[in-house]
Amino acid sequence: MESALRGVRDIALVKYSDVIGALSFALDMVEGQPEGHSLRSCFIGMTVANRIGLDREARAALFYALLLKDAGCSANSSKTAALFDADDRTAKRAFKTVDWSRLPQTALYAARTVSPDGTIWSKARRLLAVGKDGPKATRELIHIRCERGAEIARHVGFPEETAEAIRSLDEHWDGSGHPDGLKKDEIPLLARICGLAQTVEVFYAKHGPERAENVARSRRKKWFDPALVDAFLADARGIWEVLGASDVKLAVSMLEPEDRVMEVTPDLLDLTATAFARIIDAKSPFTFRHSEGVAEAALAIGKRMELSPREMQNLSRAALLHDVGKLGVSNAILDKPGKLTDAEFQSIKAHPRLTYEILRRVPHLQSLAETAANHHEKLDGSGYHRGVGSESLDRSSRILAVADIYDALAQTRPYRDALPTEKVLSILEKESGQKLCPDSCEVMESVIEEGELEREAPPPEASAG
Ligand SMILES: [Fe+2]
Ligand SMILES: [Fe+2]
Repeated sequence: MESALRGVRDIALVKYSDVIGALSFALDMVEGQPEGHSLRSCFIGMTVANRIGLDREARAALFYALLLKDAGCSANSSKTAALFDADDRTAKRAFKTVDWSRLPQTALYAARTVSPDGTIWSKARRLLAVGKDGPKATRELIHIRCERGAEIARHVGFPEETAEAIRSLDEHWDGSGHPDGLKKDEIPLLARICGLAQTVEVFYAKHGPERAENVARSRRKKWFDPALVDAFLADARGIWEVLGASDVKLAVSMLEPEDRVMEVTPDLLDLTATAFARIIDAKSPFTFRHSEGVAEAALAIGKRMELSPREMQNLSRAALLHDVGKLGVSNAILDKPGKLTDAEFQSIKAHPRLTYEILRRVPHLQSLAETAANHHEKLDGSGYHRGVGSESLDRSSRILAVADIYDALAQTRPYRDALPTEKVLSILEKESGQKLCPDSCEVMESVIEEGELEREAPPPEASAG
């Protein structure tokens, strides 16, 4: 009887790793990796950890380092797009396969990546610039990503070992890596496992098992700890069999050390939503604190409209995560100062749909996927991504749409400066009724007029593009 009850409880229990595992799809998008990259890296890394006999505590720390290893990757997207004059996701995808110690490979990568739509001259000019600034810029790009990733892990409350593993995952065994050029045992063991797992996965997903094994073999003692490579190669086929045949999410979930399983709590969900809001806002310098700003504005409206505590909680999380789909949009478009082409505008317009696609798969957040994805919908049906009208937009969706417009208008954009308060108020007034919920607009206007929302000024580089 007891064992039967335990079974029922186990089904009902949602592990926190299921939440992070589902959200890791958003991180895969930023890195230009195929869906499931983080999950598959986690499976590979945890299998290697088991084979070398890593203790439970270290495995628990490693587990989340592998799932969140790309948490800092959005922070260098804008600079990557600017450096290569290209889609940051394409540049990042190729970046992970290049051996930087080999000049021909590096040169080929640069030649293929820079200014894909440019003339031969603009391409040549950009190549020269990349050649001149490349090593320093690469170090800086990796540094930003490592520091931000570690910060995010600490924000959620993971142990320092997890944060350090994320911070050092691009270090190489021979000292040629970043950000600190650490060598051999100076590199934290968990970081060494993450580095091997992520590279092997990229080659597996792109070229198949043989190339994945070859890259581990050829970079043994260069990029990778030889003992880890040996543990991986001891039965690489066993790894491919699981990755190729079964539900990866389930396989990964089973590798979390049983007595260290983290349960989902409301506080943890709030921390996670804030962490991902920061990941989203770091994608572009023009969205500095946007998601948190939208959440503050939405909650200010919600409070005055006397929403229930439950509605307020959902509204806050929906607001923090409403633009998570932007992680799948190129910075070459998000940061473009000029007029967007039709195709570029279509890419931007896809982001609420991506928000829905991501959130609908996240346990405990599915119920707010629609509200979050409705933030560009209008009462008259002229919005996107579905173009639905007032009958399909609930109170939270309407509040969120107003809060989003308010915060966007009050921020600098690639094509305009932040608007003064009077202008924001007049735009809200104009849109109220036909496009935006009049009740929410009215409350928003009084919140603004009473100075309830103080915006933090962006750092100097934030509006420099
Ligand atoms: Fe949006
Ligand atoms: Fe937004």
